[in-house]
Amino acid sequence: MSLGIEGHTAIVTGGARGIGLGIAQRLAKEGAQVILWDLDFAPFDPATAGFHPVRTDIVDVTDLGAIQTAVAAAMAQTGRIDILVNNAGINGPIHDVVDLPVDVWTRILTTDLTSVFLCCRTIVPHMVARGYGRIVNIASIAGKEGNARGAAYSAAKAGVIGFTKSLAKELVETGVLVNAVAPAIAETDLFAQMTPEHIATMKAKIPMNRFVRIPEIAATAVWAASPECSFTTGFTYDVTGGRATY
Ligand SMILES: NC(=O)c1ccc[n+]([C@@H]2O[C@H](COP(=O)([O-])OP(=O)(O)OC[C@H]3O[C@@H](n4cnc5c(N)ncnc54)[C@H](O)[C@@H]3O)[C@@H](O)[C@H]2O)c1
Repeated sequence: MSLGIEGHTAIVTGGARGIGLGIAQRLAKEGAQVILWDLDFAPFDPATAGFHPVRTDIVDVTDLGAIQTAVAAAMAQTGRIDILVNNAGINGPIHDVVDLPVDVWTRILTTDLTSVFLCCRTIVPHMVARGYGRIVNIASIAGKEGNARGAAYSAAKAGVIGFTKSLAKELVETGVLVNAVAPAIAETDLFAQMTPEHIATMKAKIPMNRFVRIPEIAATAVWAASPECSFTTGFTYDVTGGRATY
């Protein structure tokens, strides 16, 4: 069944690789005009990705001026922004709170949380003017449960969940729906840097006894980005294989 996003313009932040790329691939497969924003497009190859974005813009999502310029370019080219997927993010280094450098805390909060505010602040007026929009914020199980030695990341992702609820209520009568997706850890290139013991410990926390696959995150995110999601706003969709049931 069609999700009804043919011809919709979708901006995916951090879309050059990883989960953002997986979401972009699914959006393109469903017929959306995909615009990718990222700091670095070296990992992105349209031939391997299997789709051609209508634009790729180098945008630092912590920079309001860069976001405003990219939104103006998107509007000039497509005349509409139906979908915003706030996916760009960093994990940051692992530290106990008492050892966490203040500048590292600030960098993680700015990249993972303030960026979501800045992108929404810029794009929401365009969506409200057309009476339609779907915003999907990529949070994390860390935002629900808190990861030891990952306080800044956990706080930022909890912030994304709270921001999603707040903005959703603010926009509840506008036709713009705002939801989040909270995945457990996916099997990505990061695994190459981890010990087998650490990977086994993480897997043991997931009742389905496997890691989430990027297309599974994309399926949830793209559904929430479509008109099929019509009576849910402010919610955080769980993609954790039964780890969090809330
Ligand atoms: N990988 C996981 O297991 C996992 C689990 C839960 C949530 N998440 C979240 O999913 C999102 C994507 O994660 P991923 O694993 O695909 O990461 P990734 O590192 O593979 O990709 C992130 C992309 O974001 C871009 N980016 C980073 N900072 C940016 C900035 N300031 N401006 C623009 N682009 C920027 C990077 O260049 C990169 O292309 C993140 O928000 C992450 O916190 C990931």
